[in-house]
Amino acid sequence: MQAVQKYISANKDRFLEELKELLRIPSVSADSAYAGDVRKAGEYVLAKLKEAGADNAELFETAGHPIVYGEKMVDPSLPTILVYGHYDVQPPDPIELWDSPPFDPVIKKTRLHPDGAIFARGACDDKGQMYMHLKSFEAMMAESALPCNVKFMIEGEEEVGSENLEIFCKENAEKLACDVVLLSDTSVIANDVPSITVGLRGLCYVEVEVTGPNIDLHSGVYGGAVSNPINALCEMIDSMMDENRHITIPGFYDDVEVVSIEDRAKMNEAPFSLDYYKKELKVDDVRGEKGYTVLEQTSIRPTMDVNGIWGGYIGEGAKTVLPSKAFAKISMRLVPNQHPDKITQLFVDHFTSIAPAGVKVEVRPHHGGHPAVTPTDTSEYQAAHMAMEQTYGKEPIPQRSGGSIPIVALFEEVFGVKSVMMGFGLDSDAIHSPNEHYGLFNYYKGIETIPYFYKHYTDLKTK
Ligand code: BES
Ligand code: MN
Ligand code: MN
Repeated sequence: MQAVQKYISANKDRFLEELKELLRIPSVSADSAYAGDVRKAGEYVLAKLKEAGADNAELFETAGHPIVYGEKMVDPSLPTILVYGHYDVQPPDPIELWDSPPFDPVIKKTRLHPDGAIFARGACDDKGQMYMHLKSFEAMMAESALPCNVKFMIEGEEEVGSENLEIFCKENAEKLACDVVLLSDTSVIANDVPSITVGLRGLCYVEVEVTGPNIDLHSGVYGGAVSNPINALCEMIDSMMDENRHITIPGFYDDVEVVSIEDRAKMNEAPFSLDYYKKELKVDDVRGEKGYTVLEQTSIRPTMDVNGIWGGYIGEGAKTVLPSKAFAKISMRLVPNQHPDKITQLFVDHFTSIAPAGVKVEVRPHHGGHPAVTPTDTSEYQAAHMAMEQTYGKEPIPQRSGGSIPIVALFEEVFGVKSVMMGFGLDSDAIHSPNEHYGLFNYYKGIETIPYFYKHYTDLKTK
């Protein structure tokens, strides 16, 4: 293991240069204009996987963006780790809010990253975190120190719902057979407070369209009598949350897992400062569901948020118009045991039922995702715990995250195995936002920690 760490130290600069090269490829999966670049990023990952020593490395075509696969089977009697990650990224918009171009990575120091952080779209989510796995693998291969079998499955559609990966997993369940899935696509609490993610929220996502009169009308001539779809949409949205920030859709909370008082108390032991939280976000207060702490509100409780809303006249100056249509994109984060399809149906029924007179509504559901929780009494969790304790010099804390990675629930369903979510980013790394970045400390810490996971996991499974 010392040789592996030495190899990593000796190749640090190149590891960073390679990540920069990957970050220069604008692999935005949501926008078809970037389809060629998404493929290029996949090809780059494939080439590096091959260079590192993976066998049977190939790009698998899908109805969307390709999946990168590669493996190293050292001995069928040893455990097999399936590494998952994604090489696609979110759109960089709003581009004018970036301090440097999103696909031209630069290193800058920040308060939380005094050693420097790499600024680029995808730096943390997930190119930087995914690429750590390739470099750890390279180091283990170079030093003939790979202790078990490994399979890599790196997709290009995580940010758009992983629908084709789902098909790929189901069709290739045998090829992908493994004992555990390992991924780094979440965060640690802080660089001096290591944590392991043991929960993800699910997702239900809908687009709504509210239609009033058949055309935009003069708001003086018709205003006062005709139902305004933007006003109606705002009223409908407002009515879906009460004064305690409880969602009012009938049945919405029916299946919500009730977390025990003891478990909640444990969760709240994680270091958290509300003052600091507010200061960082430049908000004078928070406004979550009554009766829960911020940590609980963002992990074990479901939520509803409007992600975008539009309609009417938004150009320069005033245009007195009573619009014909209003639109919104609405997301709901789900917790165990809420089912995304059931919640979607509850939303559709409720939203349709509360439409005021004079408007028609249409709801277009997107593909949803199941929540996931992972136990802490398994050898894989223990291996991650030991690996992080070793490299951070501190025991990691299990923590549920508020984000979603819908494919994680599917891994359990299709492969019958648990996932280890050993993320190394910080929540403040601005993923999905302008000026996304990833700490160099975090990048190297990940590369250093992953080989220890392989080692401890193999030891625990073979003893
Ligand atoms: N890596 C994130 C999810 C994440 C971030 C989990 C931080 C925990 C901490 C992932 O790429 C993501 O952005 N997921 C989407 C859902 C997806 C279906 C678009 C999300 O959470 O909004
Ligand atoms: Mn991600
Ligand atoms: Mn993401």
